[in-house]
Parts: sequence; C-alpha cells; structure tokens
Amino acid sequence: MSSFAVPADAYDRFMGRYSVLLAVPFADLAGIAAGQRVLDVGCGPGALTAELVDRVGASSVAAVDPSEPFVAAARSRNTGVDVQRASAEELPHPDASFDAALAQLVVQFMADPTTGIAEMRRVTRPDGVVAACVWDHAGGQGPLSPLWDAARDLDPEVQGEGRFVGTQQGDLARLFEAAGLHEVEETALSVGVEHPTFEEWWEPFTLGVGPAGVYVKGLEPARREALRERCRATLPEPPFVLTAQAWAARGLV
Ligand SMILES: C[S@@+](CC[C@H](N)C(=O)[O-])C[C@H]1O[C@@H](n2cnc3c(N)ncnc32)[C@H](O)[C@@H]1O
Repeated sequence: MSSFAVPADAYDRFMGRYSVLLAVPFADLAGIAAGQRVLDVGCGPGALTAELVDRVGASSVAAVDPSEPFVAAARSRNTGVDVQRASAEELPHPDASFDAALAQLVVQFMADPTTGIAEMRRVTRPDGVVAACVWDHAGGQGPLSPLWDAARDLDPEVQGEGRFVGTQQGDLARLFEAAGLHEVEETALSVGVEHPTFEEWWEPFTLGVGPAGVYVKGLEPARREALRERCRATLPEPPFVLTAQAWAARGLV
C-alpha cells in the first residue's frame, strides 16, 4: 500500500495515463448506466470514479481508497462523490447498498483478495454486479511489462508483478466463484496509449509509484541507467503505441 502514498499527479503520469482509458470498457463490462448507485473500490485519484460520475451522476457514486493523498485528490476532482479512506477488506458501507461494486487494478494489491471480493459482494444488492480488472502482468501483456522484461534481462532474480493474484488468466473468475458470485464471466480488455518520446514513457517510472516505481527508484544510479538503456533498446522507435491488456471479471450477487 505504501507505494501508493504518492502525489496524485505522479500517479496520473505513471498509471493514470492507462487507467483512464481502461475505465471505459471496464464500466461497459459492468453494465454501468444512469439510474444505478455504484461503488469504486481502490479508486486511486479517480480514473474510474470520473467515468462512473459521467454515467450515473456524482451523487450516485461512492469511492474508497486506503491512500490519503489519493482520497484527497479523488474528492477534489469529483465534487459530490462520497469518497472515504478505507480498504476493500473492510468497506464502510451497509449491506446491499449498491447496484454495482467495481475494483479497477486493485485486487492484486489487496492484503486479502478473498475478503475484499466478499466485501464487495456484501455491499451489492441481490442480482447486482461485482466487477474487477487487473493488468495481465503474468502473461507479459500489461503496460509495465516492457520495464519488468528489461529488468529481468539484467537480473533474472527480478520477480515483477506477475506473482500477484489476479494478474493471470482465470484468477479473477476463481476468486469471484469462491466468493459465491454467480454467472461469472471473465474476459480481456485492452487499451492503446501513444508514447511520443522515450523520455515521456520512462520518466514516470522514476517517481516511486507502485511496485515498478519503487523498484526503479531503489536501484543504484548505474543500474537504473543500465535499465533505462535496456528499455530504450527493446522498445520500438518513438512515437510508439503501447497496447496493454487486462483480465476482467464480472459476476452477479
Ligand atoms: C493501480 S492503483 C488503481 C487506482 C484506480 N482504480 C485506477 O484505476 O487508476 C491501485 C489502488 O489500489 C489501492 N489499494 C491498495 N490496497 C488496497 C486495498 N486493500 N483496498 C482497496 N484499495 C487498495 C491503492 O491505494 C491504489 O489507489
């Protein structure tokens, strides 16, 4: 969690550039439309929150995140949304209070994903929707995969983020079924982001956001430089489009 105690604008530049786009097909998958009351779990600075507000209106959206700077940013960016500092594993909402509960790029960071999904189920009404998505880190198709692949080229011991639950095909569906959700479906969602220069792609990795940012920031300068040059050599000539894939699941309460 501490790798998300960072300024919201650092998050925007590092991951928000991908997650803002992912929010659209993810909200489509969850069937979010006017008239519903919805919860954004692990909202960060509010990439998905803003998409939900567009669809159902601020007064019908609630959001939670354990990171203080992200809660502050999500509140100030989404006036009228009930944003609270909380974790998925202990949601501060009554039973059956939402038509849908969504978690975008969060399950892999939950201390206890089984409890987190069970809590999302608890706060969603009968026949309401629970949905989650996580980058395909295990399959090497996530937006951070070029960085982790290059890091492994230089040090085979590097683990990357593919070890986290949710990053592999089938993980989310299994978690959803274990939580007692029904009509569970899993699919892949993808987004494409254009990177105009190598620097624009690289520089946000130095801001210490998330496991990849913590890894890059913690390297000795010479190793960081070697990693940077390895990335430069393996990425396409700029401008290039990075296509990133996420696994996404939805199920009914
Ligand atoms: C990759 S960010 C995703 C943020 C946002 N949903 C988005 O799509 O941009 C992961 C978020 O999960 C939050 N988080 C970490 N552990 C969590 C937990 N146990 N419950 C809820 N959120 C958590 C972090 O604070 C961070 O904001």
